[in-house]
Amino acid sequence: MGTDHRERWNERYRAQPDRFGVQPSPLLRQLEQTLVPGEALELGCGEGRNCAFLAARGWRVTGIDFSDVAVDRARVNHPGLTFECADVTTLATPTARYDLGCVVYLHTSPEERAVWFDGLIQAVRPGGHVIYVGHAPGEPPEPERPTRQTLVHDMLVEVGWTESAHDRDTEPGHRARADFGVIWRRR
Ligand SMILES: C[S@@+](CC[C@H](N)C(=O)[O-])C[C@H]1O[C@@H](n2cnc3c(N)ncnc32)[C@H](O)[C@@H]1O
Repeated sequence: MGTDHRERWNERYRAQPDRFGVQPSPLLRQLEQTLVPGEALELGCGEGRNCAFLAARGWRVTGIDFSDVAVDRARVNHPGLTFECADVTTLATPTARYDLGCVVYLHTSPEERAVWFDGLIQAVRPGGHVIYVGHAPGEPPEPERPTRQTLVHDMLVEVGWTESAHDRDTEPGHRARADFGVIWRRR
């Protein structure tokens, strides 16, 4: 993952504060609602809207993003939460620590996704949960947008999934027409 990619994200956040709004992802909200709060990790947390939602629900939250502009803003907007500036493709995540690991619209190459998805799963304790929310693949399919089947993993048992037509009012800044979310229990 190069500096160029990180700088592109910094530019986007500089150009538009609250780029993805201040409300959490509706699909994350829906998938999380049956869980008992504990310790949570979000990779690619941006300006922290999902972390803030999880914290309000009672989770102790750590958010990680490689955009220092987004992380600085998250720290200012959500004091008391933990935000770290790091590249999730080179991050050494702790093993079996979290009760919930989540990603929301972290679209990267399949090679990078294999690294951070595995890191996310390893960071969750057995019996904990992993949530993925992303854009559904378009036509022609884009490698950055996996299908639900692409995300099948030996260490995960699917608990449920959901999808939505994309609503620009609830998810500003996104161009996809459909999103989906999956929740798994970690074996
Ligand atoms: C579409 S935004 C979503 C932000 C947040 N999850 C949300 O829903 O508001 C994707 C985020 O992933 C971050 N990101 C992309 N590649 C990353 C990487 N390799 N390491 C850490 N963060 C990354 C970007 O900086 C950006 O904040």
